[in-house]
Amino acid sequence: MKLTVTPGVPLRGTCCLPGDKSISHRAILFSAMAEGRSVIDHVLVSGVTKPLLAAIRECGISWTLEGERLTVQSPGWRRWQPPQKALDCRNSATTIRLLAGALAAAGIPAMLDGSPGLRKRPMNRLLEPLRLMGVTIRGSGDDRAPLTLSGRPSDMPLLNPALTLPVASAQVKTALLLAGLAAEGCLVLSEPTLSRDHTERMLRGLGVKVDTSVKPGGQAVHRLSPPKGALPPLQMTVPGDFSSAAFLMVAALITPGSEVTLTGVGLNPGRVGLLEALLEMGASIRVENRAEMAGEPVGDLTVRHSALKGIAIQGEQVVRMIDEFPVFAVAAAYASGRTDVRDAEELRHKESDRIAALGAELRGLGVSLTESKDGFFVTGGGLIRGHAAGSHGDHRLAMSLAVAGLAASGQMEVGGAEMIDESFPGFRAVLASLGARVEES
Ligand code: S3P
Repeated sequence: MKLTVTPGVPLRGTCCLPGDKSISHRAILFSAMAEGRSVIDHVLVSGVTKPLLAAIRECGISWTLEGERLTVQSPGWRRWQPPQKALDCRNSATTIRLLAGALAAAGIPAMLDGSPGLRKRPMNRLLEPLRLMGVTIRGSGDDRAPLTLSGRPSDMPLLNPALTLPVASAQVKTALLLAGLAAEGCLVLSEPTLSRDHTERMLRGLGVKVDTSVKPGGQAVHRLSPPKGALPPLQMTVPGDFSSAAFLMVAALITPGSEVTLTGVGLNPGRVGLLEALLEMGASIRVENRAEMAGEPVGDLTVRHSALKGIAIQGEQVVRMIDEFPVFAVAAAYASGRTDVRDAEELRHKESDRIAALGAELRGLGVSLTESKDGFFVTGGGLIRGHAAGSHGDHRLAMSLAVAGLAASGQMEVGGAEMIDESFPGFRAVLASLGARVEES
């Protein structure tokens, strides 16, 4: 599928975002692990959450979907059924990593697989600590998917060694905390800096004792005490996805005459690195109606076209905007001066090698972007021409390129745009509702 973007039309109006991808994954999985009937509103039903929904059904959990309302009925994670076939996680690293942790807790044999792209994503960062906990899990080749879990006797708890993660990863942290529910004592887990903490918030909301302390150097240490009883069912509404809002924020900032309001956007401190970066670049963004939803901060964002200037991003801020670099690079291309990104080697392990893919695609639009091992720099302010660009199989790259087209000097075509359904079904329709000229073919 191809998106064709005709530039120069101001974006104006108000819209709400689809449910947060990270929180939807957790809400689906935690409902399956809880005992009883959970009801989740505004859940994201998309390319990356559908495989998780299919997988929990294979484990004996029933659910129904009515629009964006998901109702899950589960006997609890201790009574999951061994799936009779390999669980296809498609392109979703969150699905495979979180499920591996939940299956490790359940102690049932299972096989997890996915798309050729998923088979390239690193899994050893998860398999090594799971093995230290006593989980028998095998990867293929150098510990990539498919993953095979052997299961264990139902009365055998997992071990609770002190675990130290080499990279800050909320997916790995979540998987290990879920496995920790079946450990024989308190699980202590450190990550180099605090990654998004949706899991900790949700587990606390379910009555699980999870304490987090952040040391002066930024290292975060989590302590989870496994509960004796079942997890209670969930009743919650998923906040709007900040990572989806990011595309509309940058779209409004770079397109002259724009002013858009995005309502009910999740503002978890571990997710809003891009908001801070854009404000530092000189963006006009107002945050109003701050509230709490499902234990998460939310608010409305009003974003106006602004003259942006280049900045430097490094260190812990990288973790708090890890999914936003494709669209951040677009903002940098439209900003005056130089923008530097360092400490971001993780970008090479996402849905695409985002440093290489961004470099190739943005240079194709005439942007001056130089890659480094752990980041890139952009010299902004030049002419950005419309062009035939490709998604590299990466939903966030596809949306970023479409956004870049809104203020380019000519029409932009983005191929491979069907990937957008992975995280933001309705992206084109939302842009069109704000006035943008975006055609699908
Ligand atoms: C996610 C964590 C991040 C992020 C991904 C979703 C999550 O991945 O990039 O889109 O829901 O926990 P890492 O844990 O690999 O950093």
